[in-house]
Amino acid sequence: MTERTRTQVGIVGAGPAGLLLSHLLALRGIDSIVVENRSRAYCEARQRAGLLEAGTTELLRAVGLGERMDTEGLEHGGIYLQFAGERHHLDFRHLTGGRWVTIWAQTEIVKDLIRTRLAAGAQVEFEVSGTEVADLDTDQPLLSFTDAAGTRHEVRCDAIAGCDGFHGICRDSMPPGLVRVAERGYPYSWLGILAMVAPSTDELIYSRHAHGFALHSMRSPQVGRLYLQVPADEEIERWPDDRIWDELRVRLRVPGWELEDGPIAEKAISPMRSFVASPMRYGRLFLAGDAAHIVPPTGAKGLNLALADVTVLAEALTSLLLRDDAGPADAYSDACLGRVWRATHFSWWMTSMLHVDPHPDPFGAELQLSQLRYVVSSRAAATTLAENYTGYFPIRWS
Ligand code: FAD
Ligand code: PHB
Repeated sequence: MTERTRTQVGIVGAGPAGLLLSHLLALRGIDSIVVENRSRAYCEARQRAGLLEAGTTELLRAVGLGERMDTEGLEHGGIYLQFAGERHHLDFRHLTGGRWVTIWAQTEIVKDLIRTRLAAGAQVEFEVSGTEVADLDTDQPLLSFTDAAGTRHEVRCDAIAGCDGFHGICRDSMPPGLVRVAERGYPYSWLGILAMVAPSTDELIYSRHAHGFALHSMRSPQVGRLYLQVPADEEIERWPDDRIWDELRVRLRVPGWELEDGPIAEKAISPMRSFVASPMRYGRLFLAGDAAHIVPPTGAKGLNLALADVTVLAEALTSLLLRDDAGPADAYSDACLGRVWRATHFSWWMTSMLHVDPHPDPFGAELQLSQLRYVVSSRAAATTLAENYTGYFPIRWS
């Protein structure tokens, strides 16, 4: 038996993009359904991003999602850049006229969004299977899925948002030949750990070391989040906890500073990739977030881009569905891709400057060191980094 219903917007994926879109549409009086193939617990626990641009923080506040972030999030006014055995501070507030970033985990944003959506009576279906989208070139596209209890659903919508991440089905539901892909692989991965120990630093440390890149980030005053560059095809079994801490100690070392270690609650290896699919729209299907683009995490942009996309999309769908004005929907892809390519360049630049090429490349290594010296000695170069890191151009929600 198939249950047939209708709603205004069908949203595939309960990651940060899909959930925030559902929330923003509700603020505009637009109904939606969110379908997600994982469980609620899985979505709430998946360790990913942790750093928000200033504009993202302001957006979450403006839409009523700032309360826990404002008490538990950590505001940072800069970062440390480390290379050639020395640590340098970049003061973002000073460089950008007051902008900052916030440490506030994606897991917490997702928890707040799920709780808020469910409390508002929204339909969020977890553990679905067989998600399909069809009739995308009509003004009544169809979203189909099988719910956790095994019932098949067909939901007629006015528009569908593909917020289903890099491995989702929506991008591939666009006609073959329409989507152009621009991508770049990197010959290394990140090994990330969640460490049950107070961070040994007040702000993030990005370190280039001859052994490879290391990053000291954090989740709270009690929990550290740290990363190591490892070979692209590395196996996690080769990294027992002691080896991870020893290597972090080597790559983050500066005289007079100590890295506190502690129990490792989670560890995983993530590949690095730049990927941009365009256009981000076909008919009444709109892609947002990782479904359309991926950046390497060195610039901390993925989550911020995903939330920026759906902010633009919520306004475009409001014009389309409530005012019968297709202008912003027609402009959606180009409006997002301007920001996406800026973040793609910045993330590639940070990645290329800080990681060690596994193939010996003395010329490349000298260029990296020269660029790093330039960033910490030239106000213009430091401002370029600070302006992009804190969010160029900031998200707006009125
Ligand atoms: P996702 O979070 O991938 O959500 C997509 C959802 O769709 C998933 O829940 C998935 O289960 C669901 N789905 C997939 N297919 C289907 C289907 N067929 N039917 C139904 N549901 C489906 N970004 C930053 O901005 N700052 C950082 O500091 C940062 N650090 C990172 C560190 C790491 C180690 C990694 C891996 C990423 C990091 N990112 C960072 C990137 C950030 O986590 C992603 O860009 C972000 O999760 C994108 O959100 P999204 O909602 O677009 O996609
Ligand atoms: C994180 O805290 O997970 C994080 C922070 C900054 C990055 C990447 C990841 O550049």
